[in-house]
Amino acid sequence: QPERIFGPNEGESEAAKEHNGQKEGVSAEDWDKIKLDDDVPEAVKEPKRMTHSRNTSRADAAIPPPAPASEPSKPSATIAKEQKITPFDVEGAVDEEGRNLGIDYNKTVQKFGATLIDEALLERFERLTGQKPHPLLRRGTFFSHRDFNLILDRYEKKQPFYLYTGRGPSSNSMHMGHLIPFMFTAWLQRTFNVPLVIQITDDEKYLLERDVKKQAELMKKYKLKKPIDLLKHYRQMGQDNVRDIIACGFLPEKTFIFSDLSYVGGAFYNNVVLMAKTLTTNQSKNVFGFTDSDNVGMFHFCAVQATPAFSNSFPQIFGERDDVPVLIPCAIDQDPYFLVTRDSADRLGYKKPALLHSKFLPALQGANTKMSASNENSAIFMTDDAKKIAKKIKSHAFSGGGATQEEHQRLGGNPDVDVAYQFLSFFEDDDAKMAKLAADYRAGTLSTSQMKEECITKLQEVVESFQKNRAAVTDEILATFQDPTRKIDPTPSPRNA
Ligand code: TYM
Ligand code: TRP
Repeated sequence: QPERIFGPNEGESEAAKEHNGQKEGVSAEDWDKIKLDDDVPEAVKEPKRMTHSRNTSRADAAIPPPAPASEPSKPSATIAKEQKITPFDVEGAVDEEGRNLGIDYNKTVQKFGATLIDEALLERFERLTGQKPHPLLRRGTFFSHRDFNLILDRYEKKQPFYLYTGRGPSSNSMHMGHLIPFMFTAWLQRTFNVPLVIQITDDEKYLLERDVKKQAELMKKYKLKKPIDLLKHYRQMGQDNVRDIIACGFLPEKTFIFSDLSYVGGAFYNNVVLMAKTLTTNQSKNVFGFTDSDNVGMFHFCAVQATPAFSNSFPQIFGERDDVPVLIPCAIDQDPYFLVTRDSADRLGYKKPALLHSKFLPALQGANTKMSASNENSAIFMTDDAKKIAKKIKSHAFSGGGATQEEHQRLGGNPDVDVAYQFLSFFEDDDAKMAKLAADYRAGTLSTSQMKEECITKLQEVVESFQKNRAAVTDEILATFQDPTRKIDPTPSPRNA
């Protein structure tokens, strides 16, 4: 079990608890209501009410009435835990008896102050684009948004906008969970025919790994001598991931992929500086759970992830234009970064980024946590072969079936918690097939092992075609996608496909 990168705090975050953020002289308006990380053991998960009322007109002000502020309680004897979603840690709630309750996404949306995607929004999308919404939208995997309607307004008026997403290279190979935002973004890009920037946060993964032991092991394993060698190692993992990303099928002429360690400078760095000045250490502590003993790079990194949301960070695409808004597809764990970005965009005179949030592809062990690269057995990696996929699903995939075959036939199974069914619902396009699998499972006529077989076949298919695409990514293609001097046309032009 790898150590959690951000566990409950190490005891020095008294300052983080006084999070009014006003003392700094920088207007840290909304920080009270988005205390996302748990630097106090269990309670105090609900955001505190803002005490000032300056910004009722802000789009983000549509936050539901929060629970009354409660005092942090001492860790109690019970093992009950509330859910936790940060960019670094995802855990579902656990009840008093230690049962996993899964992740309550509606609660997350309320707490983060985002908006659920509804039928009306999807209908508008279909009307404007002439495209049936992607299965990940239809089935509610992408379930929440910020200002997506404003992006659709622009699409309707043929005004430019662009897409931005990213990846923090924590492993040589991406896993199937990472595929979700990238596959979806590739589809969105084709649908809208707009530019896309993809940030590889190799700097983040170096800075934010606070497990010193793990980094020491890495150095030993790869015979790395100095910190600079370790940095190179993260950059290399980033490059391996870029191949994975290209395999997801983006429009080459409209896509710019960049590594922070290689690209940051020039106009981009100017925005990092502007952004950094809008952030206080209190905000970093509150939103990300950092403490006084964390390195200063971690406090600063948020400015780096925020910056691709500003169009003038990419002069080769937008020149000096700073008024082209962005749409960011990502899983909900990345939202804290962009909540901060939205807040600061106002103050910088830039456009606020719009977002589309997805749920997590669960770990093989079940819906209480996300599939994660740091736990080999929780994940199907894009490098796994057909046999390994079959083995992982058969031996690790949490089953929603009955305890015995007899019981399953009598009482039926529950597809909602069945990992094989859940995985299928992320990757199978055929709605009728999904409905039938669910119905047969509930009726007990489809067994757990049959469900697993269906899942295995689908995943093998997805991974195999991915591997084929990836093998076709030459060094030249790799370089072209990352060439910062290559001009990209930002004007929206209907595709002639
Ligand atoms: P990273 O590398 O942790 O994850 C990359 C993207 O994959 C999403 N994701 C998942 N989606 C579904 N199911 C899962 N099990 C799962 N695990 C991860 C993440 O939400 C993310 O969208 N700091 C970022 C890199 C980044 C970024 C961005 C991401 C920089 N700029 C802009 C999104 C948008 C990171 O480490 O992501
Ligand atoms: N005609 C475009 C297509 O078939 C759709 C479209 C409408 C469009 N408005 C746009 C595409 C603005 C790009 C930008 O794909």
